[in-house]
This record gives sequence, C-alpha cells and structure tokens, in this order.
Amino acid sequence: KLQAVLFDLDGVIMDTAEFHYIAWKRLAEELGIAIDREFNENLKGISRMESLDTILRHGGKADDYSAEEKRDMAERKNSHYVSLLDRLKPADVYPGIRELLLALREAGIPAVVASASKNAPQILRALELSELFRFVVPPDSVPRGKPAPDLFLRGAEEVGAAPEFCIGIEDAQSGITAIKAAGMTAVGIGSEAMLKAVGADVVLPDTRRLSLEFLRGLLSA
Ligand code: BG6
Ligand code: MG
Repeated sequence: KLQAVLFDLDGVIMDTAEFHYIAWKRLAEELGIAIDREFNENLKGISRMESLDTILRHGGKADDYSAEEKRDMAERKNSHYVSLLDRLKPADVYPGIRELLLALREAGIPAVVASASKNAPQILRALELSELFRFVVPPDSVPRGKPAPDLFLRGAEEVGAAPEFCIGIEDAQSGITAIKAAGMTAVGIGSEAMLKAVGADVVLPDTRRLSLEFLRGLLSA
C-alpha cells in the first residue's frame, strides 16, 4: 500500500533546523532585531526570502529596505548558515533515518526530499545520503512553498505515487499543513501539541522510532 515516503530535510534528516536558527539570529542581531526560539517556529519550512520578510516585519522594519538590500541580507544569512555546514559528516544524520532509507530501498519504495532549502543537495552529499533518495524536489520547480502542498505533490508525481498512499515526515507546522493539504498521511517530529494542532496524524518526539513497519502500520490502520 505504501507507495512513497516524502521527507522534509531540516529538522527531520538532521539538526540543520538549529543551524538555520543560529544563522538567522546572527543576521537579525546585525539588523538590531531580537528573535527567540518561539518566534523561530514561524521560520521553519518557509523559503529564505519569506523568512527574511517575516523577521523584518517582526522588527517593524518591513519597509526599510530595497529589494537589492534584502537580497544582500539573505545572502549574508546564507553565508552564516553555510559556514555552519562545514563540519557536517555522515554520523550527523538523525538516529533511525539511514536505516529507514535502507529499508525503503530494499522494499522498492521511493524516498523523496521535499524541502524548501536550496542547500539540500549539498547537505545530502555531505551526509552521504544522496543515492538513497529517488528524487529531491527543486524548491523553485513549484509555484508555492509550504504551507501549500506543491512540494509534496510534485515529489509524489515524480515517483508515480498516489498522495493517499504517501507519508510525509515534518518537524514544522507549515510542513504538516502542506502534507495534509496534499492529501497524505503526516508524521510529525517534535512537539505533539504543536504539530497535532495543525493536523499531524501521529507525532514522535524524535526520529528514533521511525521504521518501515511503523510507517506501513499507519496506512493499514
Ligand atoms: C527550510 C527550513 O527547510 O528551508 C527554513 O526549515 C529555511 O528554515 C528554508 O529558511 C530555506 O533554506 P535555504 O537553505 O534555501 O536558505
Ligand atoms: Mg524542517
């Protein structure tokens, strides 16, 4: 029954969600804007430019900069972020993820990455995971980012899977909303209250208990 599993990257495959937070916090401080972890939940899953706009609005500076200045700021954040990726190594993959990907490959079930991040291919290479994914959805290949379903629908389509037989795995509220809007089963990783509130079918505190058997069980229930 299970036809494909679609993975978010940051915060699901490894701890890069934390790196994004550190890099945004640094940029925000340079702009004189304070952000904390609670506010950071709003930045998860959305694109680089949307995140920047959200931070500027939060700081009451939405209209203070030209498009070119904003491009420069987004690039500066990305340099902060990319410098944190320097030490990335295969052992940084979250527990259970590589095993799950190997089991999916064994079972002939495609694994797909549906992430907003333009850095995804580079991160997958550093983690030595590239060949375990059938497809990485290019974020610019769809009109809308999360919480719209586009990235997940595009991924399913590419591997010939019907959404009702797909499972999406996400750590962000925007991502869970996107998976549900795509008509798929949503597995949340993180806070049960936060992710159930936007429709996650099941929430696990971390990736340890993710397995092919667990995922298959969700579709046969
Ligand atoms: C998402 C992250 O996966 O990718 C966001 O959750 C991030 O925090 C977005 O802003 C875009 O990433 P990048 O690497 O293209 O700046
Ligand atoms: Mg994420």
